[in-house]
Amino acid sequence: MNRLITITCLTFTLFAHCAMANDLDSKLYEQSQDKHITQSGKVLFEQICASCHNKDLSGASGFNLKDAEWVHGSRPSQILHNVKSGFMNAGMPGFAGVFSGPELESIIAYVLSKREGWSDLTFKLYQLEDENDKNITEQKLVKSGVLPKGLADFSIPEIQHYFIEFEGDFYAPKDVDTQIWLEWGFPHELSMYVDDELVNRGGQPWYPTWRLKRGKQHLKLTYRSGTTKPNQRNLVLLGTNLDMTIKMFAVSSRAKVILEDKKFEVTANDKIVIQRKRINNLPPSTISVGFPVKLNYGFNTKSCAIVALWQGDLLNIGPNIAGRGEDPSLPLGQLVFRSGQQISHNHLEGNCRYTGYQLDQGNPVFSYQIGHQGYSLEVKPSGSDTLSFNYKTDSKASSAFILPESDKLTWSSNDQVLLHGNNMLTPNNNREIVISATIKP
Ligand code: HEC
Repeated sequence: MNRLITITCLTFTLFAHCAMANDLDSKLYEQSQDKHITQSGKVLFEQICASCHNKDLSGASGFNLKDAEWVHGSRPSQILHNVKSGFMNAGMPGFAGVFSGPELESIIAYVLSKREGWSDLTFKLYQLEDENDKNITEQKLVKSGVLPKGLADFSIPEIQHYFIEFEGDFYAPKDVDTQIWLEWGFPHELSMYVDDELVNRGGQPWYPTWRLKRGKQHLKLTYRSGTTKPNQRNLVLLGTNLDMTIKMFAVSSRAKVILEDKKFEVTANDKIVIQRKRINNLPPSTISVGFPVKLNYGFNTKSCAIVALWQGDLLNIGPNIAGRGEDPSLPLGQLVFRSGQQISHNHLEGNCRYTGYQLDQGNPVFSYQIGHQGYSLEVKPSGSDTLSFNYKTDSKASSAFILPESDKLTWSSNDQVLLHGNNMLTPNNNREIVISATIKP
């Protein structure tokens, strides 16, 4: 316990302050081991703090509170101080007048008990002679240091042939079994040691995994560049549950970027969101687009068809990270139709050749050819129940559209009701064909 505190203090080089805070730090650490205290802290956290920091502490408008990154100080006493005084300018009130001293301490104890990932992480980089060199000696050590963000950073080596070692204390969840997963890992010479013992590589060849113990342990991870290409070395290492349905925490810095990137794009709140993620039950190569009015559609770049339309939030990918969902992403909300059923061109007119999309005020305009005819498609919501599909063509010829049958909506074009199935539509003077789908109340 003391060792941990000393190292944290060294990291922050606040010696004077540190000596004073030591007692409080140790007290709070001890409380974080006490189930009674953390349980009452949990209740208060979920009532008050979860709205901004998420129930699982993974962060929302407020920061992530279970990783190694602390913007305002990582020592328990600093965390307590920060919660008491808040960050009014950034949107967090102070809680000194809201909770009693013991209540505040129980909340901090709970936060400390939820710690995930590395702490006091260090690295050592060894320069090797060539791709076959496996002889790691102290003479070959070229660089070492501390990684305060607690993430294995595989972009450190700027040399061709190397061996790198990451080592530190590691906090895995106490209440579930977890493992480290290397995304696309097959050719990599990666080894893990938990409490100084080599961990067997599990999982599939392309999805290797290494079991962690529950709670606190010492984790060492070594990697030799070998014959891998430099652009394959920025490894994605994630903590997952044992059936790999939930991505829980980042182990490498690249994994962190990926988790946060996904989280950023969950729902369209104030602007249009475009997603290229694989979606459950939709064909591959579907780009999904969500509008803030909570209408969403999927455009497939292989068939140039609208392969889904749904109401509600865009995609269930945030929960996938925060610990509830599954890969691949699921459309959230109510499906109106999905492939099998789709808005498509008549294939007698030719095959689809997709050429890309451009943004019109954040809204994607898809361009493609069907046979000899060029199209660009922009979809626009009107109200929260209608999506208009605006097809611009490069000729005045009529086009055949096949519309899906759905008892949840009505089709129209220029105020004329359309039926499902085949429709021959003629462009207006602007060479535009507008098809509207209105969802029934
Ligand atoms: C209304 C939203 C909100 C609530 C409620 C809230 N926070 Fe925060 N919290 C924030 C924001 C925003 C920040 C980031 C401040 C900044 O930008 O510097 C933050 C920062 C923090 C930090 C500093 C993190 C760091 O990296 O140093 C801690 C610790 C923290 N909150 C704990 C809590 C606890 C514990 C509670 C409940 C008692 C709580 N917060 C309630 C919004 C909130």
